[in-house]
Amino acid sequence: MNNKPKVAIFASGSGSNFQVIMDASRAGDLHADIVAVVTDKPHAFVVDRATAAGVSVVAFSPKDFSSKVDYETAILQELQQLEVEWLVLAGYMRLIGETILDAFPHKIVNIHPSLLPSFPGKDAIGQAMEHGVKITGVTVHYVDAGMDTGEILSQQAVEVINGDPKKTEQRIHAVEHELYTKTLQQLWRPTGSGS
Ligand code: GAR
Repeated sequence: MNNKPKVAIFASGSGSNFQVIMDASRAGDLHADIVAVVTDKPHAFVVDRATAAGVSVVAFSPKDFSSKVDYETAILQELQQLEVEWLVLAGYMRLIGETILDAFPHKIVNIHPSLLPSFPGKDAIGQAMEHGVKITGVTVHYVDAGMDTGEILSQQAVEVINGDPKKTEQRIHAVEHELYTKTLQQLWRPTGSGS
């Protein structure tokens, strides 16, 4: 069988990684069907991108729920309805809790703008600039219960441009777009396609 995995992309912001993954899938360069965008920020730009692409949007504000379990249960119900098999985090600025983790064992991946285990958590690029490192980078990894601690799938180094966080961020984004697509292509390689 050569069925494409059904994928939901989780994002909280601009969604440039969503766009690149979506475009690759539509162009036939990625063996996956992107069936939903899940966001905790109903007004994020990623929602506009998803709408323009005709992709279902699952948008819940955590503050409308009395607990994280309730919030994630609401998301999970939508994912199950759409028969989603993989979750791709692309700028989703929230820890995945056990409700979603337990439902997708070894089926959640994340991209992070540093060479993990350095600079986990928020503002990884700012953390790198503050530490004065010359090299930072991008990591794609499986998601576990920790903060950016899951098994690493791929990494790429990026040279810091001294005193220029904006340009450094642009470099990192460009590397992210390539590395995420490449890593997901490997993860979902159609069976029987050889190496
Ligand atoms: C990306 O740089 C991603 O690595 C980062 O958020 C950005 C989202 O950009 N994620 C994290 O920092 C997660 N800890 P995008 O919305 O343009 O794809």
